[in-house]
Amino acid sequence: MNMNPVYSLPLPPGNLGLPFFRQNKKIQKNHQNIIEEIYQKYGPIYKTRLLGKKFILFQGYEAVKFVVTNGNQYFTSANKNQYFTSTEVFRNYQIIYGQSDITVLVDKEHIDRQKLLSKTLKNKVLDNYINTIHNLSHSYFSKWIKYDFVDLYFEINNYTLDLVSKLLLGIDCGSKTEIGNYLKDMISGLNTIPLAFPWTKLGRALKSKDKLFHQFEQIIIKRQQESDFGSDVLGILLTVQQQTNNKLTVREIVEQMVNLLALGRKELSSALTSFLILTSEHSDVLKSLQIEQEKLDRAEPLSLAKLKKMVYLEQVIKEVLRLAPPVSCGFRQVIQDFSFQGFRIPKGWYISYQVNSVLQDPEIYDQPERFNPERFNTANAEDKKKPFCYIPFGGGARECIGKEFAYLVIKIFISSLLDNCSWKFKENQDLTINKFPVARPANKIEVCFTNG
Ligand code: HEM
Repeated sequence: MNMNPVYSLPLPPGNLGLPFFRQNKKIQKNHQNIIEEIYQKYGPIYKTRLLGKKFILFQGYEAVKFVVTNGNQYFTSANKNQYFTSTEVFRNYQIIYGQSDITVLVDKEHIDRQKLLSKTLKNKVLDNYINTIHNLSHSYFSKWIKYDFVDLYFEINNYTLDLVSKLLLGIDCGSKTEIGNYLKDMISGLNTIPLAFPWTKLGRALKSKDKLFHQFEQIIIKRQQESDFGSDVLGILLTVQQQTNNKLTVREIVEQMVNLLALGRKELSSALTSFLILTSEHSDVLKSLQIEQEKLDRAEPLSLAKLKKMVYLEQVIKEVLRLAPPVSCGFRQVIQDFSFQGFRIPKGWYISYQVNSVLQDPEIYDQPERFNPERFNTANAEDKKKPFCYIPFGGGARECIGKEFAYLVIKIFISSLLDNCSWKFKENQDLTINKFPVARPANKIEVCFTNG
């Protein structure tokens, strides 16, 4: 008989009985409302069945903080581990993305990889990337002003693909090379029937994956033979590897680069698009952003120090990420039975923590539905009310390692846009942002960019 007192506790409220297929469809269609309803009705934890697996949703400040701060003790990453991949759809993730990127690693391997990648995406090294981001942003603005209207999300997706291909691997015009198509094909095989034949989506995805991986392998092998590895993410990674014992195989580097490319591109596209949509409805905010740019010395070259002076811009970015977080939830698997608020959370089950439930909490954020960048100024500092109450980048052991890099890109893109262009949204468009699984416009949105 097991004497662990946790065993005598009840399971959280909820329903494991609904046919998961129907439930999933419902959740995908109207995710945010359903999740909010569950929170209102049942409180911070709720059991359900998703993708055929037993899940517990963690919502609200206390529950989410518990998940992100107990990373190593009770949970492991649930992205692609062996249990998760026994679920058909998640098996696709494993065979497409591979098994060695940071999101799959645990314990010491995870910490080592985090240390290695941090050296390529954080602190002083970011200086290396400023000119590339600035120049690429300008080349896109010059193109956009030639058209009456551009399809905003489509164009931003091309921009971010060009940007991450260049900054990660030194590839020019990623969106115009085969890389963009391979990546698109690969990703379209993720949430599909797990049958890999030449005529199925998964089959085509795997074919594109092979081609993409082959191209990346060639780039990496060639770079390893050069005397100067270069100053992009790959170059810095190879240099750090040479100086430390943290060695990855070519295959591991390929898988890691594909993971960074896919994550970086998706979240940045979401954030930049939401920024333009949400600010379009607030001319006062745009005016204040403009004033802040005008106060800066135009002759001073762009640098980390100059970007740090864009305090209001940073507040607006924070508010955009609070209202439209690009990542709506994180997943974990329970590795040890534990209790939370009087309920038993069993080993082997899955956890999904909900980012929105914290970012929209009225006890943390005053009138949370309002777009109000001032909530982040030093006097209000609503994000500092409690630890882990501002979590668009997650938190704890698995906090986003691309956070500083993301702020850098968004700041340079928006400040350059403010300096060089005016823009207007086509009238009478539906500007709804769908929040699940990635925040993105519900419909095509057209914008007219002009000089000055
Ligand atoms: C606004 C932009 C971004 C947002 C909002 C964002 C958000 C997040 C969140 C919420 C997580 C944690 C997920 C979890 O708890 O399971 C995460 C993890 C991660 N992000 Fe980001 N991200 C952004 C940009 C980027 C960029 C640009 C990169 C890389 C170039 C990146 C790379 C990663 C990686 C590698 C992880 C996994 C970390 C780990 O498992 O230890 N992200 N991100």
